[in-house]
Amino acid sequence: MSEIAEASHTCVLVTGGCGFIGSHTVVCLLQRGYEVVIVDDLSNANEKVLDRIDQIVGEDAAERLTFVRADVANKQALTAVFDEFDIKAVIHFAGFKAVGESVEKPIEYYSNNIGNTLALVDVMRNHDCKSIIFSSSATVYGDPDELPLTEESPKKPATNPYGWTKWMIEEMLRSLTIADPEWNVVLLRYFNPIGAHPSGLMGEDPKGIPNNLLPYVAQVAVGRRDCVHVFGNDYDTPDGTGVRDYIHVMDLAEGHAAALDWMAGRSGCEVFNLGTGNGTSVLEIIKAFSEACGKDLPYVVEPRRAGDVTANWADCTKARLELGWEAKYGIAEMCRDSWNWQSHNPNGYEE
Ligand SMILES: NC(=O)c1ccc[n+]([C@@H]2O[C@H](COP(=O)([O-])OP(=O)(O)OC[C@H]3O[C@@H](n4cnc5c(N)ncnc54)[C@H](O)[C@@H]3O)[C@@H](O)[C@H]2O)c1
Repeated sequence: MSEIAEASHTCVLVTGGCGFIGSHTVVCLLQRGYEVVIVDDLSNANEKVLDRIDQIVGEDAAERLTFVRADVANKQALTAVFDEFDIKAVIHFAGFKAVGESVEKPIEYYSNNIGNTLALVDVMRNHDCKSIIFSSSATVYGDPDELPLTEESPKKPATNPYGWTKWMIEEMLRSLTIADPEWNVVLLRYFNPIGAHPSGLMGEDPKGIPNNLLPYVAQVAVGRRDCVHVFGNDYDTPDGTGVRDYIHVMDLAEGHAAALDWMAGRSGCEVFNLGTGNGTSVLEIIKAFSEACGKDLPYVVEPRRAGDVTANWADCTKARLELGWEAKYGIAEMCRDSWNWQSHNPNGYEE
């Protein structure tokens, strides 16, 4: 059974804690009194985020944060972390996440995402730490037959290696709870996380050309890119462009803290959707961001991208009833905070 008790003095390992969602979650955990150990190999993050976390949470809380630069697949390094800290639960963000890149580099994606998870749960088991929250994705629902998506909606075959890794890791973690009833697994299926910390100190800082809409739009707004590419305007949606359930990264971070609280004293495997329950089209996002930054953003329409679904949005009733969690922010606030971050940090964490 889970040993997670009250936040104060409970130590949580956050893999991938220097990344976009991880860093915002670490802030939430520190502000709630947790001790946090981040393990991140910085393959898709900048170490400067650690200073920003410290600035946001203040000196006292920052003392409860430890950073270890290591690959989660490195069992020796991970064992040393578990030997040193009394880790009660793990939030597992570490992994590669670019859909297109996963098609080009399937070996790297399967190896990193699945390999590092296997190494992690093995070391966890050896240290009798059996509580884990995993970053899953709405991608496991594929092209939905019905909307909104509930946790009971069927999983569909993935259309790319990234999607398969999420699909398979969910099943791998579920198997642990069948083999050993002490495991306590929460699978959080994120919809589309965007936005940034309201301070403007932390946000999404993709390396290279952004894969996702929002960071791309933000880089157009700040003049780093010429115009937004809209992939398809002939979908069966009100304005013809794809519809997604965008969720503010701070709401998502709070969702992890709520899930940790909920896990205390439980075991088994549970799935929760984390979204807002509202669908927003690509053109609506461009309009909302234009309002946030005070200028019209140019866009061009391109052919559809393979593997993109028409629309998805979540039913988040289960998270509301069980976790007592609900998204608070709307699209205007997501764009405001994203613009605040991008305009104050046009090159992300690089000077
Ligand atoms: N951002 C999204 O749209 C989205 C949606 C659904 C699910 N997710 C999942 O949430 C998680 C976090 O996403 P994010 O947007 O913060 O991504 P991110 O790339 O910003 O963060 C991932 C972090 O993990 C680190 N990392 C990767 N492989 C590692 C390894 N083997 N060992 C140690 N560190 C490693 C990277 O350096 C990075 O800091 C990922 O698992 C992602 O698949 C993201």
